[in-house]
Amino acid sequence: MKGVILAGGLGKRLEPLTRITNKHLLPVYDRPMIYFPVQTLVDAGLTEIMLVVGGNHAGEFLRLLGNGAEFGLRHLNYTYQRAEGGIAEALSLSEHFADGERLVVILGDNILEQGIRPSVERFAAQPSGARLLLKEVEDPGRFGVAEVREGKIVGIEEKPARPKSSFVVTGVYMYDGAVFDIIKTLKPSGRGELEITDVNNAYLRRGQLAYDVLEGWWTDAGLPETLYRATTLVRERALQRQQQTVTA
Ligand code: G1P
Repeated sequence: MKGVILAGGLGKRLEPLTRITNKHLLPVYDRPMIYFPVQTLVDAGLTEIMLVVGGNHAGEFLRLLGNGAEFGLRHLNYTYQRAEGGIAEALSLSEHFADGERLVVILGDNILEQGIRPSVERFAAQPSGARLLLKEVEDPGRFGVAEVREGKIVGIEEKPARPKSSFVVTGVYMYDGAVFDIIKTLKPSGRGELEITDVNNAYLRRGQLAYDVLEGWWTDAGLPETLYRATTLVRERALQRQQQTVTA
């Protein structure tokens, strides 16, 4: 299994913070945002990781992360997303890297309190298909919303005006090798992007969409308000860890 971090896009929702740097390089408490998804994948046991970068400051990722030695990695792979074509388009750029293997995909601005290893292990035990991580939130309309009935996802809607549940699809996705053929069938959405929600609904139609509900907090950091929230949550966790080390 390999890991892909999607860190393209122009981060327009964070203007003017993103005018002279990339969203994923902005600080979240004591480190750049991109450190968190890298750590999440490394903690899940993945050693082969590709970053899909984009925008005007893509070279800075290499300067910051290099070969990932800080994370105990020997090598990091990079590819460049030229346009703002959406999450599914960004993912399609990792096809040669995936080389038929399964992928754990994470959005570069998603930060999780806890590790995802148990879900990754359940995905590895799954014969094929996809696996999502859902989380119950108070403002589901900002996200992909999953309608869950009798323990099964029956539909996902991207940013619905009237959400059918409070369970949203977080930016952690696990896919088998079929994902790239699915992406090739997609048409751009109303916002002109290839939507990851359409990929997930394609797996659903095949009867191959599993999920877990995420434990611990989860946040994106792509809006001023959620960047602030991410910083606060990461700070609290860092202070708790310090406390635990002192009392241990
Ligand atoms: C994207 C996805 C959405 C998902 C969210 C998680 O939203 O389209 O389905 O719930 O990431 O962070 P966007 O960041 O494009 O608004």
